[in-house]
Amino acid sequence: MPDIGLLNGRFMPLDRLMVPVEDRGYQFGDGVYEVIRTYRGQPFQTEAHLARLERSARSIDLTSPYRPEQWRAWIHEGIQRAGYPESKVYLQLTRGVAARDHAFPAQSAPTAVLTVRQMVEMNPALRTSGVEVVTMEDIRWARCDIKSLNLLGNVLARQRAKTAGAFEAIFVRDGNVTEGAVSNVMLVKGGAVITAPDDQWILSGVTRRLVLDLARKHGLPVEERAVSIEEFRQADEIFLTGTTVEVLPVVRVDGRAVGQGRPGRIAGQLADWFTEDSIRPPR
Ligand code: PDD
Repeated sequence: MPDIGLLNGRFMPLDRLMVPVEDRGYQFGDGVYEVIRTYRGQPFQTEAHLARLERSARSIDLTSPYRPEQWRAWIHEGIQRAGYPESKVYLQLTRGVAARDHAFPAQSAPTAVLTVRQMVEMNPALRTSGVEVVTMEDIRWARCDIKSLNLLGNVLARQRAKTAGAFEAIFVRDGNVTEGAVSNVMLVKGGAVITAPDDQWILSGVTRRLVLDLARKHGLPVEERAVSIEEFRQADEIFLTGTTVEVLPVVRVDGRAVGQGRPGRIAGQLADWFTEDSIRPPR
């Protein structure tokens, strides 16, 4: 089975899906996106992802040509057509094709793309060993809450992390830790789960919300507030959250051990609860 793509309502093999050079997504990054994965073949947290897609689109004055029901139907159809054991579904909406001019075109139809690729799970050894992260200045714009196609800050950070032999880049803005290049980040201190607040400086992760809800449900104190880089370095535990990383322990920051230098107990519990409460299908 080839990877599957959908362009403006038509399914086709992904390698046949073409968008014109003058699409504003290509010219300006003028668009928004979502990434949804499946568990046991079923898309996970579709409602939350579609709600965020709508919010992101609205935030850039872009109207989605399709209602959530339509997206949902396509997500299911794409997954069926691709036929993978587990899939990664990518949705993208741009302001469409128009002669290049920064201001919005008077008339343009949004371009909607959906792709379905096989979901390749992370190396499980990383979950037991934990990963290393490097911190760097957050050079991104002031609307990180919008899941925009403009990912250059994230791309450069992720590449620098890779070059440094680390798994993820952690952004620091004005002395405070915001998030990772492709994930949210949390720390544990004195038994409390602490993470940056849900504001313009981070993407409000679907996984972040689920993990914080799980922590509260299981009686752990949760603090959503500014986290200084000094506090971050002195954490008992650190972990990442995200669609692709799930709950992933961090054992080194900029080459220095986090806590005991091993994956933390609370991160492990949250990872287990995430698997049990969120992923396991209802009985
Ligand atoms: N990224 N922060 C950033 C900057 C992200 O790009 C992502 C996800 C997250 C986590 O969000 P969620 O839990 O909703 O996946 C946080 C996706 C996977 C990507 O760009 O590929």
